[in-house]
Amino acid sequence: MSRAHEDILSAPTPAAWVDAAVERWPELLLDHAACEKKAASTALALMFSYPEDRPLSAALARLAREELRHFERVQALLHSLGVPCERRKPGRYAAGLRAALRTTDPGRKLDLLLAAALIEARSAERFRLLAPRLPGELGRLYAQLERAEARHFERYVQFARLEAEADWRARLRALAAREAELATAPDTELRFHSGAPVLHANNSLQANPQGGLRLPGRVTRA
Ligand SMILES: [Fe+2]
Ligand SMILES: [Fe+2]
Repeated sequence: MSRAHEDILSAPTPAAWVDAAVERWPELLLDHAACEKKAASTALALMFSYPEDRPLSAALARLAREELRHFERVQALLHSLGVPCERRKPGRYAAGLRAALRTTDPGRKLDLLLAAALIEARSAERFRLLAPRLPGELGRLYAQLERAEARHFERYVQFARLEAEADWRARLRALAAREAELATAPDTELRFHSGAPVLHANNSLQANPQGGLRLPGRVTRA
């Protein structure tokens, strides 16, 4: 599979994030469910913002449906693995990235498309890193989602190119630098798009509220 989406990321995901995510998979899966909902709502928000762009609306309507199907699959898995649903406050990533975007057009539409592309690229990268380390249905789902999110990255980039053929590449690089900071700098929260996990004084990660849950099959350690 082409990994053009990973080439655009300014920094890879820290190994410590992958270790923490494998260890604390129930929390990650809960946050992942929220990310799928957010991906659908981001697509819908773009459709509302730019109704005159019919090809974009048509593509995003399909994309939003796909993200909602991802959400349904994650919800079903949460249920079958016995992870209780709970409200979680979002991490810093989406808000931090949004703060770097231009607030008016011209420029706003390009930035929204590129930010969505970067989020899809980071998601695909993390699914690739997690899939071989998680057993059973969870590992299989993540391998499938890597391909889907990489395709979504391509789609958003196609529309960004149509929007600003001369400028999209430089702007993508600028936003990728900010995205990489958010995805790699020390972070006290563990989320699907969080940075390097901060160890606490006792050298452990934050308390894991679902620490008692076990995945069927073996979790692979690095
Ligand atoms: Fe998705
Ligand atoms: Fe996606």
